[in-house]
Amino acid sequence: MVVSLSRQGNVGIITVDHPPVNAISAAVRAGILEALAQAQADGALEALVLAASGRTFMAGADITEFAKGPAGPTFHEVCQALEAAPKPIVAALHGTAFGGGLELALCCTARVAVPSAQVGLPEVKLGILPGAGGTQRLPRLVGVAAALDIIVSGDPVAAPQAAKAGVVDALIEGDLLAGAVAYAQSLLAKGQPYRRVRDITIDPESIPADFFAAARARFAKERRNQFAPQKIVDAVEAAVVLDIDAGLERERALIAECFVHPQARALQHVFFAERQVAKIPNLAKETQSRPIAKVAIIGAGTMGGGIAMNFANAGIPVTLLEVSAEGLERGLGVVRKNYEASAAKGKLTAAQVEARMAHITPTLAYSDLADADLIIEAVFETLDVKRQVFQELDKVAKAGAILASNTSYLSIDTIAQYTTRPADVVGLHFFSPANVMRLLEIVRGEKTAPDVLATSLELARRIKKIGVVAGNCHGFIGNRMLEGYGREANLLVLEGASPAQVDKVLFDFGMPMGAFAMSDMAGLDIGYRSRKERQLTNLQARAGRVGDKLVEAGRLGLKSGAGFYDYAPGSRTPMPSDATAQIIAQVQAGEGISARKIDDQEILERCFFALVNEGLKILGEGMAYRASDIDIVYINGYGFPAYRGGPMHWAENAIGLKTLLERLQHYAAQTGAPWWTPAPLLERLVSEGRSLASI
Ligand code: 3HC
Ligand code: NAI
Repeated sequence: MVVSLSRQGNVGIITVDHPPVNAISAAVRAGILEALAQAQADGALEALVLAASGRTFMAGADITEFAKGPAGPTFHEVCQALEAAPKPIVAALHGTAFGGGLELALCCTARVAVPSAQVGLPEVKLGILPGAGGTQRLPRLVGVAAALDIIVSGDPVAAPQAAKAGVVDALIEGDLLAGAVAYAQSLLAKGQPYRRVRDITIDPESIPADFFAAARARFAKERRNQFAPQKIVDAVEAAVVLDIDAGLERERALIAECFVHPQARALQHVFFAERQVAKIPNLAKETQSRPIAKVAIIGAGTMGGGIAMNFANAGIPVTLLEVSAEGLERGLGVVRKNYEASAAKGKLTAAQVEARMAHITPTLAYSDLADADLIIEAVFETLDVKRQVFQELDKVAKAGAILASNTSYLSIDTIAQYTTRPADVVGLHFFSPANVMRLLEIVRGEKTAPDVLATSLELARRIKKIGVVAGNCHGFIGNRMLEGYGREANLLVLEGASPAQVDKVLFDFGMPMGAFAMSDMAGLDIGYRSRKERQLTNLQARAGRVGDKLVEAGRLGLKSGAGFYDYAPGSRTPMPSDATAQIIAQVQAGEGISARKIDDQEILERCFFALVNEGLKILGEGMAYRASDIDIVYINGYGFPAYRGGPMHWAENAIGLKTLLERLQHYAAQTGAPWWTPAPLLERLVSEGRSLASI
């Protein structure tokens, strides 16, 4: 029984019990209706409580049902039944009362919550809008502007704030059910009429005339290219201009539009991909994670300091080792500056800043790392330095300690060989800024022990990152794919597109910034140095020629005030540059290339198809467990728009694997470049008519 009715004196308690998160499946909807009917018919019951057992109140509709189509009683029927019940109903909230869960609660007479509960309408994150009355009832309860912000952000609101806003009527310290029953008694004592959210009126005159136009314009910018936020504005506007029943009908029509939009499918793919990613195939059930109570980090540079902050934020003590006192001082200074910037924005108190700093212990001595459960190396990117560090770690680290490298490109297997314990060695590849970026690539060496991988995934969650296991290949998943994307952007410029044209196509697609603006921000000298260190074929080297000349002309990017773009003093806004145009023309002349007009479609195809083809090679080689893991890497590490589902989902659904194959074959024939050879996996999938998910 997923829903039951029990009794405490004259109060009936309807309890939903549908683990793990009490998702409101067809059975739950039917169960609530049945329990409600029973309770109404029971003359001994005067009031009701709607509660859920386990870790949370209902966390929303059952998302697995979305793809299957409607079945069982609708949300609307359940809402109507709750709202029309003559007996008062108190919703008892704990955990996460999200989506349909909160919407059902809004149909009750009152809501009480434990202080740790959260409420929210996260539907927008699934590409839809609240479809069980949330867009009509929440504005009535908390005001139009506040409701719009809650619904468009999709972010949770903590119960104490929800109480201030009027969503929650009372906070219950102690036993929630007892508090809810007592609240129901107090409603009975006050007597009829019981307040219903649907009866609250919104005065249209109280809303500024341009409110909704301004909201549409704001979300067109803040939620660029996104469908659902605009539909949410339409729905909330309906709450103002229509009566509740007409508004509810409008909401149903609008959610139907969202459901059939490709963004909804993409975002729902991302929801499940995020949950899949933490699962290691064939991991023995009895695998136990290793306890991680103390962490050490080697190198307090750009990455080391940021990595340390993650652990300090999670309350895990961390020892930070450098080669010199100056290095330590500089590194800790940057960490402190970052925390103080957060404090200045009101995100941390001064005491919290000090508490976090106190979690970081600086040292110059390897002997101080002897009790660390996990040691992460973030020193210079050369094998020689990594060897010195890992040989030292092998001497001092305790048995069973995990030895990790933050290397961007170097082989984890080679690094593991520097120790006598390769099974304990793993790559933990953070992204810059390491205290901000959500992605953590967990690089599996040939000998990495399964429990080291499991521990790394668990740790990622503890420090609020999303861990993705990658195989040990040059650049792992993310940077390996990025290479083709950057290469095509540069070749397109050599062939006649301007950096601004390429960047506009990439930005309009939904990337946070174009490839050239990104290179300018990172610094062009990084790519320059790496090109000089690598043996590149002539064809490969060509893509770097403009970048090389820019660096040699002192144009290092934003930090030198000029790169692919010009920058006005103190400004970060890229402006097309005549000097760069001249350098491009010189390189074209040197390479014997006559510039041609390049259309936007070619830019889009070449940059993203190169990226996806590499992703397919990675998948075919077993360097990623699943296509959806690659999507998670790109969304969380490189800003690929989640509403396109990640590059692999996009390629399969918006382009089609067959078309992709044809276009790769076209570019391979046109350019003769080896990198356009289609991934063998793609050829196989297309010839067998299979999907990426079938791998
Ligand atoms: N439907 C179906 N399954 C769900 C689900 C849902 N709404 N929410 C979570 N699950 C599943 C997850 O897929 C996962 O399954 P798995 O163990 O097989 O991988 C399991 O429940 C546990 O989920 P998490 O790993 O995410 O558990 P956490 O404790 O980390 O988080 C949570 C719990 C905060 C509730 C989080 O799961 C969450 O945010 N869920 C989605 C909430 C949501 O989006 N609700 C709105 C749904 S749309 C809606 O209500 C439409 C309405 O307007 C009509
Ligand atoms: P960095 O140059 O900013 O910092 C390296 C630090 O290591 C310096 O403070 C240096 O003094 C210290 N160091 C050098 N040798 C040492 C030794 N033997 N013992 C102790 N400390 C030593 O470099 P950054 O950018 O932090 O990179 C570190 C690692 O992280 C590299 O492997 C890099 O490839 C990787 N990485 C860098 C990213 C970035 O965007 N900067 C992103 C992801 C990974």
